[in-house]
Amino acid sequence: MSARLAPLPRTVAREVAREAVETTSAALALRSRPRRNRKTDWARRLVREHVLTVDDLIWPLFLIDGERRREPVAAMPGVERLSVDEAVRAAERAAALRIPAIGLFPYTDPALRDPLGSEALNAQNLVCRAVRAVKAAVPEVGIITDVALDPYTSHGHDGLLHEDGRILNDETVAVLVEQALVQAAAGADIIAPSDMMDGRVAAIREGLDRAGFLDVQIMAYAAKYASAFYGPFRDALGTKLIGDKRTYQMDCANSAEALREVALDLEEGADMVMVKPGLPYLDVIRRVKDTFEVPTFAYQVSGEYAMIQAAALNGWIDGERAMLESLVSFKRAGADGILTYFAAEVAERLKAG
Ligand code: PBG
Repeated sequence: MSARLAPLPRTVAREVAREAVETTSAALALRSRPRRNRKTDWARRLVREHVLTVDDLIWPLFLIDGERRREPVAAMPGVERLSVDEAVRAAERAAALRIPAIGLFPYTDPALRDPLGSEALNAQNLVCRAVRAVKAAVPEVGIITDVALDPYTSHGHDGLLHEDGRILNDETVAVLVEQALVQAAAGADIIAPSDMMDGRVAAIREGLDRAGFLDVQIMAYAAKYASAFYGPFRDALGTKLIGDKRTYQMDCANSAEALREVALDLEEGADMVMVKPGLPYLDVIRRVKDTFEVPTFAYQVSGEYAMIQAAALNGWIDGERAMLESLVSFKRAGADGILTYFAAEVAERLKAG
């Protein structure tokens, strides 16, 4: 049974509304009016809880063979693959803006990809050449290199693929340690394992220490989820993934498991941990930061960047405001820093004030 309501006359509605406001404001005596602290720009700045600064930024760059080459990434408007000399130029821009660190990701020539990801261990591979060139030209910028086999494997997986379809764990870890040593020898400051094999942080730490790289840090992709938001990154790297990564990357429905992953990586010797992707996982960042109180980073991944850029290019959102709002939300969630493809743009924006 539903009662048919007669329309409420305008005058009655107005009277009811006026009385409602009078009664409640009298009852509350409205001592608390939160809008007072928002009344002007200076007042808002005065009470602001979280601030994004250039020190929070890590800038991921894509590399490609050749010289004086900048190649747009279709799925990431505004992002380009850079030849080593252009990457050096980008690093100089990072230094001028005081961005603390850059991350390097190679588009490997498809002819160099094989099932074992052998090119990862070549001391003259694209990443290693870029690390040496950037270190020589801009020593004050930190260099982060990704440890995982996906830029080098023909099947696109982060590890070794067995013929029965499994990704082999311990066999992969042995290769990752070697890859980390090759990168450290080239001059990488921070090794960032993004592969999600079990036990890789301990093995890499052991390998680095044995080889004398005591000061090389490890930023563990500790809570890395199997995510649709990595799509544009795979375009940038030219990866054609066979199957999916759900047997090693985390299930997006879990967050207590993220704490276990982080705990393990810290026990194994990680200096910093990362949650990835970013925006859909702010709750995980908060839990990790509150639980462990260690340097905690967020990766605003390629798909997150692409969504903001696509909507902005269509005129559906204000791209600059969406960029700043998304980045400050990572600070609010407890992140100490953010890997973001917006790094240079936002640093310029912050500098301009
Ligand atoms: C590979 C790796 C990926 C990203 C960083 N390292 C993709 C993946 O795991 O499939 C994604 C970064 C991004 O989407 O911006 N180990």
